[in-house]
Amino acid sequence: MVDAQVKDMMMAKMYALFLLLCLSERSVSLDNGLARTPPMGWLSWERYRCNIDCIKDPDNCISEKLYLDMADLLVKEGYKDVGYEYVNIDDCWASKERGPDGSLVPDPDRFPHGIKYLADIIHSKGLKLGIYGDFGTKTCGGYPGSKFYLQLDAQTFADWGVDMLKLDGCYTNTEDMAYGYPAMEFFLNKTGRPILYSCSWPAYISGTTDPDYAQIAKYCNIWRNYADIQDSWDSVKNIIEWFSQDKGGFTKIAGPGNFNDPDMLIVGDYSLSYDQQKAQMAIWSIMASPLFMSNNLRTISDNPKALLQNKAVIAINQDPLGIQGSKIDQIGKYIDVWTRPISPKGKSIAFVFLNLGTAGGPYEVTYKLSKLGAISPAGYNVTEVFNGNFIGMFKSQDYLNVTVDPSGVFFGVATFLG
Ligand SMILES: *[C@@H]1O[C@H](CO)[C@@H](O)[C@H](O)[C@H]1NC(C)=O
Ligand SMILES: *[C@@H]1O[C@H](CO)[C@@H](O)[C@H](O)[C@H]1NC(C)=O
Ligand SMILES: *[C@@H]1O[C@H](CO)[C@@H](O)[C@H](O)[C@H]1NC(C)=O
Repeated sequence: MVDAQVKDMMMAKMYALFLLLCLSERSVSLDNGLARTPPMGWLSWERYRCNIDCIKDPDNCISEKLYLDMADLLVKEGYKDVGYEYVNIDDCWASKERGPDGSLVPDPDRFPHGIKYLADIIHSKGLKLGIYGDFGTKTCGGYPGSKFYLQLDAQTFADWGVDMLKLDGCYTNTEDMAYGYPAMEFFLNKTGRPILYSCSWPAYISGTTDPDYAQIAKYCNIWRNYADIQDSWDSVKNIIEWFSQDKGGFTKIAGPGNFNDPDMLIVGDYSLSYDQQKAQMAIWSIMASPLFMSNNLRTISDNPKALLQNKAVIAINQDPLGIQGSKIDQIGKYIDVWTRPISPKGKSIAFVFLNLGTAGGPYEVTYKLSKLGAISPAGYNVTEVFNGNFIGMFKSQDYLNVTVDPSGVFFGVATFLG
């Protein structure tokens, strides 16, 4: 065996032992005070990928300029006021080699002042900084991974003033994740700095077997369940359909401190129609999903900007009960019915009729209120969420009649009267 493999095995054994000693006692979900509601912010990956050519593309390459510009815009354009808080670096920020002491080093040309400098400016604007790492030996983009450097990297991130870590799972076998992700949580905790921990762990397993989500929630604030989002309605639809199946029972695991993450919002990007953008906002809101935009806030147009800043949509996403909604029914071939219990507990209900059909006109939905779970005899006021239009007062036996555009939604809230 070569040296590296021996080291590998020793480290693996050490982690396994360490896990047994320190971690097996834990019976409840991670509570580090963070993510009491789904975190909100901006994340570079979907839109900016691993664009590192700052000579050719200075505005869009992964560099301190990109994150500082977005931080500026989050504040100036009103996103911060409605709750978007994290500015998150994704892959390709690091140098290809670790420094002489083994620690991660940001690319010196693209982050000439270092990450601490970036964190300080971002904090001075009342925002938070997120960073990206990978549990394996390399990141997905081929930059240094954290395997065998977990403690050092956790400390480096804390020293830099980082507030959130997305830990990806390329370049490792999946079996190691069951102790590696918990080990990183242990080391993050030991730094004493509250760092919101986003794990890609289940996303690397869910293709073959159902992850143990209760176990994952013991160590992660949020976790990516499934494939990366791409800039297309097909991708959004595929993610929604996958989440609607609730394989492995992840929906019930969500709650204050721990949320499933279906990946970034692509509202304001290239591909989605206005209706499709509303659909993504509505379903991400019903699912209590983290809301991380990945778009160009410099050039975004008014309609997507208004959708992203819609306070009623955000309020449902951020409902303090933190209950994740789910698909409860299907009408005909194409209309999915989703509901989410919101505050006050056991009383009001947010709901979505999602039209996955493509027939060229709005679909008429007639649906009895009680089937949404709205069963109080006192009745409900129903309001459309995006525009606040009052639809009417309803008893639980009444039918709600609405139309739903192709690849669009009707997003409503039934407010308990009583
Ligand atoms: C570390 O873990 C303890 C116990 O779960 C928790 O109370 C504390 O807030 C955590 N600290 C940090 C910095 O995450
Ligand atoms: C319900 O709607 C009616 C009619 O618009 C209104 O008078 C009433 O105040 C509303 N009640 C609640 C609790 O919103
Ligand atoms: C909704 O449609 C049903 C069936 O067509 C009808 O019986 C009901 O009166 C309608 N409800 C409202 C509030 O218009």
